[in-house]
Amino acid sequence: MTHRLPRLVALLALASPALAGSPVAGSETTPVTFAEHVAPIVFQNCASCHRPGEAAPFPLLDYGDVKKRGRMIQLVTQTRYMPPWQPEPGFGEFRDSHYLTTDEVETIRRWVEGGMEEGDPAKTPELPEFTSGWQLGDPDLVVKMDAAYSVPADGPDIYRNFVLPLGLDEDKWVTAVEVRPSARPVVHHVLYFLDDSGRARKLDERDAGPGFDGFVFQATGNLGGWAVGGTARHLPDGLAMPLPKGADLVLQTHFHPSGKAEREETTLGIYFADAPPERTLMEFQVPPEYGSYWGIDIPAGEAHYPVTDSFEIPVDIQLINVGGHAHYICSKMIGRATYPDGRSEPLLYIDDWDFNWQGWYEYEEPIFLPAGTIVDVELIYDNSDMNPRNPFSPPRRIAWGLESTDEMGSLIFDAVPVNEDDVAWFHLVSAGRPFRSYEGDNGALNLLRRIQSMDRDGDGGVSRTEVAPYLVQLLDALDREKDGILSAVEIAALEARAN
Ligand code: HEC
Repeated sequence: MTHRLPRLVALLALASPALAGSPVAGSETTPVTFAEHVAPIVFQNCASCHRPGEAAPFPLLDYGDVKKRGRMIQLVTQTRYMPPWQPEPGFGEFRDSHYLTTDEVETIRRWVEGGMEEGDPAKTPELPEFTSGWQLGDPDLVVKMDAAYSVPADGPDIYRNFVLPLGLDEDKWVTAVEVRPSARPVVHHVLYFLDDSGRARKLDERDAGPGFDGFVFQATGNLGGWAVGGTARHLPDGLAMPLPKGADLVLQTHFHPSGKAEREETTLGIYFADAPPERTLMEFQVPPEYGSYWGIDIPAGEAHYPVTDSFEIPVDIQLINVGGHAHYICSKMIGRATYPDGRSEPLLYIDDWDFNWQGWYEYEEPIFLPAGTIVDVELIYDNSDMNPRNPFSPPRRIAWGLESTDEMGSLIFDAVPVNEDDVAWFHLVSAGRPFRSYEGDNGALNLLRRIQSMDRDGDGGVSRTEVAPYLVQLLDALDREKDGILSAVEIAALEARAN
């Protein structure tokens, strides 16, 4: 229960902007000053990135910095371009929200239009203290890239995978990963994948220089990720992610050249749980990962191309967090839960999706979804030449695919089951959805049959080495005994539930 206090403080801050250190500027007639009104807003919401060595291109740490860019700051706050925070307010309550209140935006506007007075410098608040070391204290394991990767000054964004052997000789449970890029100005986001198949190492050997290109690598697990502005934190409620012995960590890093050549040599801190968690973290995607089945195929010039999917939650769960994933021309993402009693609740709404700001959003409180709840997701794509993020001019037909100029899209949720006995069944139903229509109605059963057909040695069970690479993560999730084999007994139990 150690998270109780910070959560309460966060709730209070949400309820009352004044408590978050941003006094609302007086009436239209009293002057708005930097010292009293604007500095608290900027120091609280901008300075964490707008300071030397961080991702933003210039500092916002004193009156001179802010005045110099006053007009621009008014614009980017009014348009909600800054601070970067994609979820619209009122559609799910999230921790660490960077969203400025309407009052704060209004205060900045009045300050800029009123001539950007400094006011009494003695009234300027102190800058917040930024911890320079590990935010979460000393990690249990520190790993570093074995060579620096050169990021050129200019050119397109770069996606690169780096393999970091962890050398663990026993299975671990991970509560948090903290990333420390050496070249913060160019590192936009990092996804943490796991691989214990050796495939990532082979891809690395084949590609000259540190790491390898592309999105086609099939991970055998993952440990979440980080994006610019993200706060390192432990998973809530004693949750942890499995980290099998012998696995390599594979970083998938998105670089955004900054105008200055940089060398990146990422360091990561990994925090272990003392004991296996009592509840299992389960990830699911709506629409499911195998997007080709969902037939994203967007004609050139189409400005409103919707993709919708619904998932009926098969068992009682609690939703922990949500993140969106799509490429350049997705424009909106909407998620909603409709409960069996007909009530409904927004889960996420991103009105202006931006591929450069992928984030994960942790709900302020877990959201209980009873079995039978329908999770509806709608994604809208804009493949017209009016979309400034369209990678093609003139627009071209864009279909589902792994390259960043192809498209895909889902909302990705993390949840815990209310009843631990439901874990394997939940994963099978969720992963079995694409296996429904082309092989009959029962997706869970069809997927189970597919896995069973991979039993090459005919012993009735399917091992991690027998199953196709894209099913290893699922096999691990279904394998309740955690012995690396989906045994005949485990298969029979799932079969009984599917029939
Ligand atoms: C999570 C990190 C982060 C936070 C917080 C943040 N910024 Fe930024 N800001 C950036 C980055 C990175 C860029 C450069 C990339 C870009 O323009 O998208 C940027 C760019 C800008 C720009 C230039 C925009 C342009 O088009 O050239 C302005 C102005 C700005 N930020 C103001 C602010 C203000 C004001 C705040 C607080 C209310 C703020 N930022 C909070 C990361 C941040």
